[in-house]
Amino acid sequence: MGKVGVLTGGGDCPGLNAVIRAVVRKAFQNNINVIGIKNGWKGLIEIDTMDLDISSVSGILPKGGTILGTSRTNPYKSAENVQKVIDNYKKLNLDALIAIGGEDTLGVANKLHQEKKGLNIVGVPKTIDNDLNATDYTFGFDTAVNIATEAIDRLHTTAESHHRIMVVEVMGRHAGWIAIHSGLASGADVILIPEVRIDLDEVCDILKKRKERGKSFSIVVVAEGAEFKAGQVVLKEEKLDAFGHVRLGGIGEILANEIEKRTGFETRTTVLGHIQRGGTPSAFDRFLATRFGVKAMELVINKKFGYMASLKGTEVTEVPIQEAVGKLKTVDPKLYDLAKTFFG
Ligand code: F6P
Repeated sequence: MGKVGVLTGGGDCPGLNAVIRAVVRKAFQNNINVIGIKNGWKGLIEIDTMDLDISSVSGILPKGGTILGTSRTNPYKSAENVQKVIDNYKKLNLDALIAIGGEDTLGVANKLHQEKKGLNIVGVPKTIDNDLNATDYTFGFDTAVNIATEAIDRLHTTAESHHRIMVVEVMGRHAGWIAIHSGLASGADVILIPEVRIDLDEVCDILKKRKERGKSFSIVVVAEGAEFKAGQVVLKEEKLDAFGHVRLGGIGEILANEIEKRTGFETRTTVLGHIQRGGTPSAFDRFLATRFGVKAMELVINKKFGYMASLKGTEVTEVPIQEAVGKLKTVDPKLYDLAKTFFG
């Protein structure tokens, strides 16, 4: 191995820099050169790169975001861009490429690998949503849960003082992992996730019963991707991102209005949004990201292309990227049942 490229694609998350640092440090130990591809697949389409040596990754471990930049560019949107990715990989004299990303970025990596286009790719899974299959946890999730938990703790005190219902919208496009972890950790009174349709009658009933037993305030945590029983996803703006996903946001506000209308209780909404993705990673995420980065470089050294780093129990192992894409890891109904113990 002479030269290895590394890119970060999709939504950023705390811990990406820790992976980049670990990749470069492991490469340095093995006399391998690393270059950074900027802004995900876009950087490979446009040959936008930066040198990555041991000094350029110094001090980045606790920094949020990604020093490489990111984008939601999908080269498979045009045959021309796929060809550019293949040609530019060769032009850059890469021997391997480490793609750090979620479902979309790893989906592209997997496709390139499956189609045998001559690219040697290994993956590193990341997403604050924790919905990637084939790994127990992704880094970024723990930080997001901690941010959401702290925010909900804060909302508790103001909700109690004003005798209000507080609806807190957290991220989670397809899976309610952040909602259920932060909701349980902060003692939320109702938790609503994309896996289970929202029954407004049930929610209002819980809130009314809580009031009857003397609790003048309640906290409702809702994942942004949750849907009402009737069916439709509630959208603020029906815009699509570069990867073709509908941009979410707005369920919290609509839910709060419905609750207020149906119960007469004063209700407010807080949308945590990208705050959950920003800032310094937790120690858990730095630790996991570091182990993933080292593992990715080991996969490159051992020529285990088409594989990605994965956490199984306490062990960092490898799984085919194929296993991580195509199917999401959603919240187990048993866990949701457990959460219901604390509703109301
Ligand atoms: O996939 C991670 C995630 O944070 C989702 O929870 C959220 O729906 C989405 O990214 C937001 O994407 P963007 O940063 O493009 O608005």
